[in-house]
Amino acid sequence: MNYRICIPAFVLAFAMIVPIAIFADAPNAARDADGCRACHQDLKGKLQAPVGPWKGSAHARDGRMCTSCHGGRADAADSRSAKDPKTNFIGKTDKRATTEFCGRDGCHANVVAYFRAGRHAGSVKKAGEPNCVSCHGSHHIERSSARIMTESRCVPCHTPAFAKGVFASLKDADQLTSPIEADIEFLKKKSADTKDLDGKMASLRDHRTRMLHTLTRESMSMARGLIENEQAILKDVVRTKIAIVKRLDLIYQIIMIFCMCLILGFGVYTFRVYRRKAE
Ligand code: HEC
Ligand code: HEC
Ligand code: HEC
Ligand code: HEC
Repeated sequence: MNYRICIPAFVLAFAMIVPIAIFADAPNAARDADGCRACHQDLKGKLQAPVGPWKGSAHARDGRMCTSCHGGRADAADSRSAKDPKTNFIGKTDKRATTEFCGRDGCHANVVAYFRAGRHAGSVKKAGEPNCVSCHGSHHIERSSARIMTESRCVPCHTPAFAKGVFASLKDADQLTSPIEADIEFLKKKSADTKDLDGKMASLRDHRTRMLHTLTRESMSMARGLIENEQAILKDVVRTKIAIVKRLDLIYQIIMIFCMCLILGFGVYTFRVYRRKAE
């Protein structure tokens, strides 16, 4: 057989079959993975409300579906079998159990451990506040920053002066880390290798996460000490890298200017030769 024809024919046939196979399966696959949303987006009020905010959240972007938090069976046709108790379904959570809800199946294990080491964990167990949802929300959860911590969240239980004091020390720690974050962003834009920095930055962020979630005087001053030491070392490494990048930039600019002069000179020279010949 002539395999010069046979191989392209085989490749062509394969190229046609693969998309057909994928598209034929797609609608079912999507419904199986997303049955909760398919039904809830056609409901009303509180039952429909979570769908939109979830769609725009960090969880949705990361492929976390309704079942990631609530459990249940996403491929079930009716509400009852979707919420079969055997599938670990948890509906509207009891506020006092929010810590366990957000930590189910090993999610956010580090943050949950930090939170449990603090005093608010006990307050949540007793009074239901201040829990993960009171600061982060439930469906429209975005990448957080210190901005979600406002005094209004604290004054039901603490004095405004106490809250202000806590925010001041958090902000203080932020001011140590944020310039370094900006410098690392700068290096990334310049396509410099930042792998070694990323690990160290992650460690700094982890101290901040601990500070924010354990939130006791002792844990805050301990984290502050670690941040201070580690940022001093990191700052030196980052500065050296930036100096190298800037020097390379300068060399590049000089070479560019030199090349441009060369091209211009060559242009002027050819023009003159050409004119002389014409005369
Ligand atoms: C065919 C429609 C349908 C499907 C599929 C469905 N639900 Fe529901 N869901 C409902 C209706 C109707 C209610 C309100 C009545 C009730 O509690 O059964 C409800 C209630 C809820 C509640 C509130 C329960 C509470 O305790 O107040 C949650 C949370 C929920 N659904 C999540 C899910 C999740 C997660 C899935 C997928 C595993 C899912 N639903 C699949 C129709 C559906
Ligand atoms: C990040 C975890 C998470 C995801 C993902 C999630 N939920 Fe929820 N959901 C919660 C929490 C926490 C609560 C209870 C807190 C509250 O009332 O806001 C809740 C409450 C609900 C309720 C009860 C609302 C009420 O006020 O009675 C419904 C209905 C619901 N979710 C449906 C869904 C559907 C449908 C999806 C997928 C589109 C979804 N949830 C995805 C965490 C989640
Ligand atoms: C008092 C408010 C508050 C409470 C309560 C709270 N958080 Fe946070 N959380 C924050 C803030 C503020 C940040 C932003 C941290 C930063 O800027 O580095 C954050 C960050 C996070 C992050 C991102 C951490 C990272 O590695 O970047 C996760 C995940 C998280 N919280 C989960 C939780 C969980 C789970 C709970 C409940 C056990 C919880 N949070 C309770 C305020 C809170
Ligand atoms: C629902 C009530 C409640 C809310 C809301 C609340 N807290 Fe607390 N907080 C407590 C309780 C209870 C304790 C434990 C007090 C104790 O053990 O003496 C505590 C302890 C603390 C501590 C530890 C103090 C120490 O001695 O180490 C800090 C810091 C703190 N809260 C900060 C905050 C901040 C900041 C907010 C707002 C983002 C906030 N709290 C919101 C109830 C609350």
